[in-house]
Amino acid sequence: MYSSFDLTGKTALITGASSGIGNHFSKTFASAGANVVLAARRTDRLKETAAEIGSTGGNADWARLDVTSRASVEAAFAKSIERFGRIDIVVNNAGIASASYALDVSESDWDRVLDTNLKGAWLVAQRAGRHMAEDQKGGSVINIVSILGRRVMGGVAPYAAAKAALDHLTRVLAYEWARYAIRVNAIAPGYIITDINRDYLNSPMGQKAIRKIPQRRFGQPQDLDGAVLLLASDASSYMTGSTIVVDGGHLQSSM
Ligand SMILES: NC(=O)c1ccc[n+]([C@@H]2O[C@H](COP(=O)([O-])OP(=O)(O)OC[C@H]3O[C@@H](n4cnc5c(N)ncnc54)[C@H](OP(=O)(O)O)[C@@H]3O)[C@@H](O)[C@H]2O)c1
Repeated sequence: MYSSFDLTGKTALITGASSGIGNHFSKTFASAGANVVLAARRTDRLKETAAEIGSTGGNADWARLDVTSRASVEAAFAKSIERFGRIDIVVNNAGIASASYALDVSESDWDRVLDTNLKGAWLVAQRAGRHMAEDQKGGSVINIVSILGRRVMGGVAPYAAAKAALDHLTRVLAYEWARYAIRVNAIAPGYIITDINRDYLNSPMGQKAIRKIPQRRFGQPQDLDGAVLLLASDASSYMTGSTIVVDGGHLQSSM
């Protein structure tokens, strides 16, 4: 491996690590040499993956985390810092979707999606920023946004609004935190098959969506490995405020 992508000696905290993309990233980071903290609400799944990483020679721990609660964010950081000393990389990956047309979205659905996908990511980023600025060693914050923050479709108003806002927040934080050697970047995935969308992607409507993807396939979590390892590692030391789109060309296609 090109040595700049090596994460040996670094510690990464990954939110939403109990399934899908976050769970996959925890294994990717561990195999690149990082200590990994898996964080989410379903701790049984976190423990299972941490044990799996440990059994293959990696170094992993877990922390219960509800990103909508500042107290929970605080506790997860405290546990991670106590275990590994410092956190160098934070992947803001926790997220939920909701499926209703704009006329039908309830206020509680709106709040649930915005509280998790935007406010939650903000709480985690702010805690990470304070930690990384404190000892002047900096770090890398990676926000998982979505191509739905850039293009539109029906039924995803709160989700698309939250992801567009997080994409823009990425640039604001990059601008403010460069002075602390903290890099803040984002990855905007297209359709990656996980629990969040498996039912939809396997439905007749989902299958039609393949035709809109120039590469004519949905992505798998491992399709994001190149982007996440780049942004986590010193290979991207002059990148901040960037969003890497990983979507098989989906953004380039017409509706
Ligand atoms: N799959 C795609 O096509 C796609 C495309 C673009 C962007 N994304 C984004 O990628 C990220 C990961 O999604 P995924 O596809 O891997 O879906 P997923 O398998 O459903 O994973 C979502 C993760 O978020 C966690 N989570 C949800 N609410 C949380 C909360 N309040 N506090 C802490 N963790 C919470 C869940 O863990 P617990 O329930 O255990 O807490 C779970 O681990 C999301 O931000 C999603 O919007 C996905």
